[in-house]
Amino acid sequence: MNTTPKRILLISCTGQVGAELWRCLQPLGQVIPVDRSDTALRIELTDHNVIRNVVREVKPDIIVNAAAYTAVDTAEQEADTAMAINGIAPGILAEEAKAIDALLVHYSTDYVFNGKRSDKPYQEDDFCDPRSVYGATKLAGDQAIQEVNCKHLIFRTSWVYGLYGKNFLLTMQRLAQERDELRIVGDQIGAPTWSRLIADATAQTIAQVQSSLLHADMNKLSGVYNLSCGGQTTWCDFAKAIVQQSPNPPKVIPITTDEYPAPAKRPAYSVLSGDKLADTFGLRLPAWDTALAVCLSRRKPV
Ligand SMILES: NC(=O)c1ccc[n+]([C@@H]2O[C@H](COP(=O)([O-])OP(=O)(O)OC[C@H]3O[C@@H](n4cnc5c(N)ncnc54)[C@H](OP(=O)(O)O)[C@@H]3O)[C@@H](O)[C@H]2O)c1
Repeated sequence: MNTTPKRILLISCTGQVGAELWRCLQPLGQVIPVDRSDTALRIELTDHNVIRNVVREVKPDIIVNAAAYTAVDTAEQEADTAMAINGIAPGILAEEAKAIDALLVHYSTDYVFNGKRSDKPYQEDDFCDPRSVYGATKLAGDQAIQEVNCKHLIFRTSWVYGLYGKNFLLTMQRLAQERDELRIVGDQIGAPTWSRLIADATAQTIAQVQSSLLHADMNKLSGVYNLSCGGQTTWCDFAKAIVQQSPNPPKVIPITTDEYPAPAKRPAYSVLSGDKLADTFGLRLPAWDTALAVCLSRRKPV
């Protein structure tokens, strides 16, 4: 039996999901974290030669790409940069992974869907029709990986929040201290997902595909898997659930998307079905409000 530890190249250990992955990938092998402020081994996803050089130097068994251009509104003005990072870089990573027979793990978004329906959660193979530059560039990345067809797992997630980085949870907690009233969009429906659960489920899935039982089937297992918390809510009700923990919770008033104009259009409905992940790997994330309660219990109310 080969007991050499797997080499895991983790691209971005500073983002919401990347920071959690850095911790929970540890039991799976030797994690080599890289980011763009790294001095020893710097990754820059707009520079395709740098991407190739980093992979060739590290020679990983597994590449986990948690980096992305995630500024949804700014992407409308910076489409070329967003496409380089989200659309083209994943394809380069896939080519490099294929050359060394490595597994590529990557993340996609609910914003690949147009949200024009509201009757049932999106399945992985439902028609994609992004409404924003961000969504379009992320879809291009998914497609680039699938075209190269290295061994891959693409986890499609939604409304990510957590204890690190810039996100809705931390913003609402800050605003709850500053204001008596918050006006939050109440007509977009989705599922907030804690970054720690994304990282935990990623690690558990990788552990399963590394096991001798499933390893031989990696060609069949490659593909897109929705990885979101269960249930559904609106940004407004998500905000209410967050701020009710504050000492003096502000009033939270629902407004329409039209009343809060943003440069990028968002899907009105983007709930993702978790059935494929559950059927394949026996993993299902908890309901969004259960996950939020656990997350908030890790952090003192502010
Ligand atoms: N956030 C959400 O609500 C959401 C929803 C659905 C799907 N997703 C997907 O989930 C994944 C993880 O998202 P996240 O929320 O953890 O993102 P995040 O917190 O915004 O972190 C993104 C990371 O990417 C790095 N990065 C950006 N541009 C880079 C470049 N040119 N070269 C190298 N690194 C670069 C950033 O580094 P710096 O710190 O140097 O900027 C940062 O560490 C992404 O694929 C995202 O598209 C996110």
